[in-house]
Amino acid sequence: MSKKPLILGIESSCDETAASIISENDKGKPIILSNIISSQTEVHKKFGGVVPELAARSHIEKIDWIVKKAINDSGIKINEIDAVASTAGPGLVVCLSVGLSFGKAIAASINKPFIAVNHLEGHSLSPKLNSELDYPYLLLLISGGHSQYLSVKNLSNYERLGTTIDDAIGEAFDKTAKLLGIEFPGGPQIEILAKKGDPHKYNLPKPIFNKGGCNLSFAGLKTAILKITKKIKTDQEKFDLAASFQKTVVEILYKKTRIAFTEFENQVRPKKNIFVVAGGVAANKEIRRMLINLCKEKSYEPVFPPVELCGDNAAMIGLVGLEKFKLNQFNNLDYPAKPRWPLDENAKFLKGAGVKL
Ligand code: KG4
Ligand code: ZN
Repeated sequence: MSKKPLILGIESSCDETAASIISENDKGKPIILSNIISSQTEVHKKFGGVVPELAARSHIEKIDWIVKKAINDSGIKINEIDAVASTAGPGLVVCLSVGLSFGKAIAASINKPFIAVNHLEGHSLSPKLNSELDYPYLLLLISGGHSQYLSVKNLSNYERLGTTIDDAIGEAFDKTAKLLGIEFPGGPQIEILAKKGDPHKYNLPKPIFNKGGCNLSFAGLKTAILKITKKIKTDQEKFDLAASFQKTVVEILYKKTRIAFTEFENQVRPKKNIFVVAGGVAANKEIRRMLINLCKEKSYEPVFPPVELCGDNAAMIGLVGLEKFKLNQFNNLDYPAKPRWPLDENAKFLKGAGVKL
């Protein structure tokens, strides 16, 4: 039996310092041997958002023991690692540089290949860590920095169908939470508060609901919420606003996902309709429930990463590393940190610029 590849994945693009050892079983299914994540929520909480300088400093302090722990917990020796995969972008350049440099240094010291990974591709492939997933598929990427529908044709072969023209969906959750006086990151808290509220209490706008294909917009929603929060006084009103906000987001995603299904089918003509939902916001149970029902209605197979792998982690980075390792796709040690790195590198526009409405 041939030796299975052992990949060290490293993630430091934003406010999670993470390392993981990934391998595969005899059937070629990826397996997680260790997955260590250290979140900086406490560091950034009082500032209401991630402070890049503090985030970078925290990565520098923690990266050594996080990587050591990932190697120790996996039961392997550092020399047995076959390749090191680090997130090279997109993200905060001062943060990316920490994991990138650390990964390159380990690769050089053990004389093994280095692989630069796109963080978004990590999210895209993350469902493979617990289920079967074949190309092509339609991807809805919903995180703190991105909201996109993409046709995924193969490894690193993406075509964008729609994107947000302003705020990302996770950003909308976090900003709404902030207006309701909830500490950063508020997205998961909104889901909890919404359970106690009346989703029909406030009628919120749905920007570009009836135009713009499957492009998205959330900025107008935030403005409307700002106006309402100035008037609300009771906790119950807060719960009602959280519930109304979540319901509005669910309705927007329902409509836009139907459009994305049609565009995906026309563009890719897939033999099988597969819909992957990834990124931090994919942890939201109301969004999951609606999308699973929609998939039933439209004969799509819904694929979600496990909730604990929806947020930023290094297992998904190691997984992309594993796929690239098997294709001998390595990078030089002068590979730069890329604060902007769209999955569809040929797209003429970034973050909605050029979207026709
Ligand atoms: O993918 P991720 O961990 O980091 C980025 O790459 O951005 O996503 C973080 C985002 C944050 O905006 C957070 O508030 C949001 O995901 N989020 C949620 C939930 N869990 C995390 N939003 C809504 N409901 C949740 N349960
Ligand atoms: Zn992420």
